[in-house]
Amino acid sequence: MNDDISNLLTEATSAVDAAASSAALDAVRVEWLGKSGRVTELLKGLGKLPADQRKARGAALNELKGAVEGRIQARLENIRGTELGARLAAERVDVTLPARPTPDGRIHPISQTIDEIVAIFGDMGFSVADGPDIEDDFHNFSALNFPPRHPAREIHDTFFLTPGADGERKLLRTHTSPIQIRVMRRENAGAAAPQFQVHRDPPLRVIGPGRVYRRDSDATHTPMFHQAEGLVIDRDINLGHLKWTLDAFARRFFELDSVVTRFRPHYFPFTEPSAEMDVQCDRSGGQVKIGEGGDWLEILGGGMVHPNILSTCGLDPDAWQGFAFGLGVDRLAMLKYGMPDLRDYFDGDARWLAHYGFSAFADPNPASGLS
Ligand code: PHE
Repeated sequence: MNDDISNLLTEATSAVDAAASSAALDAVRVEWLGKSGRVTELLKGLGKLPADQRKARGAALNELKGAVEGRIQARLENIRGTELGARLAAERVDVTLPARPTPDGRIHPISQTIDEIVAIFGDMGFSVADGPDIEDDFHNFSALNFPPRHPAREIHDTFFLTPGADGERKLLRTHTSPIQIRVMRRENAGAAAPQFQVHRDPPLRVIGPGRVYRRDSDATHTPMFHQAEGLVIDRDINLGHLKWTLDAFARRFFELDSVVTRFRPHYFPFTEPSAEMDVQCDRSGGQVKIGEGGDWLEILGGGMVHPNILSTCGLDPDAWQGFAFGLGVDRLAMLKYGMPDLRDYFDGDARWLAHYGFSAFADPNPASGLS
């Protein structure tokens, strides 16, 4: 190898060895072996040499080229190894670190309470029925024996919707009792609401939880709240069945045998006789305790299904009787879980829910415990 070539090799070799990264090494490669690299240019100049020098010079240059290439390749493997080692060290996963917490959703106390109610009545042979939140006058009032223009329609302080093209004025249901009509009456609810085709032939036992709406707002009333409608139709059903069922429910719901209940006569157009049921409680000291004290809290209305309702629904009142009741779901939740202000329930504050909510993995059932 000529002197100049061995000098070039020394120079290239130290440039290669000095490259500290694959990017720097690539720059060296371009400088020496690229399209207009120094070795490449020398090779291009071979043609101008006299023929007798060309062969030896060509061989020497090719040897130089091969040597530089080999040096670069060796250096590249070296750098890759170092770079991989650095990445492995930097991206190392510490498997001993504690896992990041995944936020787990909470079950709203109202959903929990509805699940508990359904579990208890389900255990007694009831099945769930549902109806639309937007009702018509017929299901919410007329079929339930509210006379036209009777003030009983006003006591509910109804939210009415703007009348449609046909003049019909829909409303937000003021109670879950229209579910009774939807269950008992054989009618075509229309393809628009197939999910509410809940008709069942008697004998029947249904529980219908859902949202209801009234113009009302203070610590114990919100414009939207929840009820669970109960309906039992059979032959030879009497008031004793109603009282037993509701007493049994109260004991199971509050998970306390000492719950004391009281029936107070009341008026509903769709039951006769009608009553409201209260539970005994102690409300002194800003707390609610069930089964002691001298206070009473109303949790439901109920009674024997009025014969007019049965007739309207195509059932013979001489052949069938039944009872119905409407549970105040929010009241039950307040009592059982000791949350005093109903408005907090529907504020949508995630901190409140994190505190008062229930685990999504607890499935309430009367055998394993409800809450
Ligand atoms: N719908 C009544 C209310 O909202 C409660 C009720 C239901 C009463 C069923 C009797 C029978 O006040």
